[in-house]
Amino acid sequence: MRRRGLALLLATALPALPVRAQGPDPAAIAAIVEFNTVCSNCHEGECSGRLSFDSGAAAARGHIERHLGAPAHETHIAALFAMLRHVKETCSHYPAVPIRPAAGTWLAEELAPWRNAFAGAYFIPLGKLAAGRHLIRLEFDGEADGHARIDDDRMDVVAEERLCRDGAKTIELDVAKAVEHFLHLKSGSATLRRIEFRRPGG
Ligand code: HEC
Repeated sequence: MRRRGLALLLATALPALPVRAQGPDPAAIAAIVEFNTVCSNCHEGECSGRLSFDSGAAAARGHIERHLGAPAHETHIAALFAMLRHVKETCSHYPAVPIRPAAGTWLAEELAPWRNAFAGAYFIPLGKLAAGRHLIRLEFDGEADGHARIDDDRMDVVAEERLCRDGAKTIELDVAKAVEHFLHLKSGSATLRRIEFRRPGG
């Protein structure tokens, strides 16, 4: 009962989740980015399936707003709550559609919606990466401190790099199976100027 109520609420609140044909919905992207730059710091990997959500989304409001650093609208809280439920129940990422297939260059303007300024972090879905070697070059508008991490649909980390006053950083990864991949990037106040995708020998 409760589950259906939430699903219905979400369906009316966020019709464009996951984002596709009609273009990205900023509210849906913002919720996905917040979830993956803030909430997942503590809640990722909780795959028990056991939930003590009996009190529902409303009761978690104080907790959620404290971590977001700002008051949040009810539909936004419901969206975050649904994402947490999805992660806990399926042990996999909440679906998110990439800017476009991971090839060529993604520019600052397209990447900007995928940044949470409050957290100084990006969460960027890369889509399905083909099996084989990939070089992903991150270029910043200044010196970036933090780290970059790529994980797959099951939230297994496949590549990790530290950023120590780096203006740019290339992440190398070998994809064993063509599945969805996600970039988690903490870069403080430095923002992405572009991301370049290359296949060596390709
Ligand atoms: C600093 C760590 C931390 C962060 C960040 C965090 N949480 Fe939590 N959260 C907890 C802990 C600890 C609990 C209580 C134990 C549990 O149920 O997992 C909890 C409980 C919850 C609950 C209630 C779970 C239940 O079983 O009743 C919800 C819903 C929730 N968090 C959502 C969020 C959302 C959404 C965000 C992001 C805005 C977030 N949390 C950020 C640590 C965190």
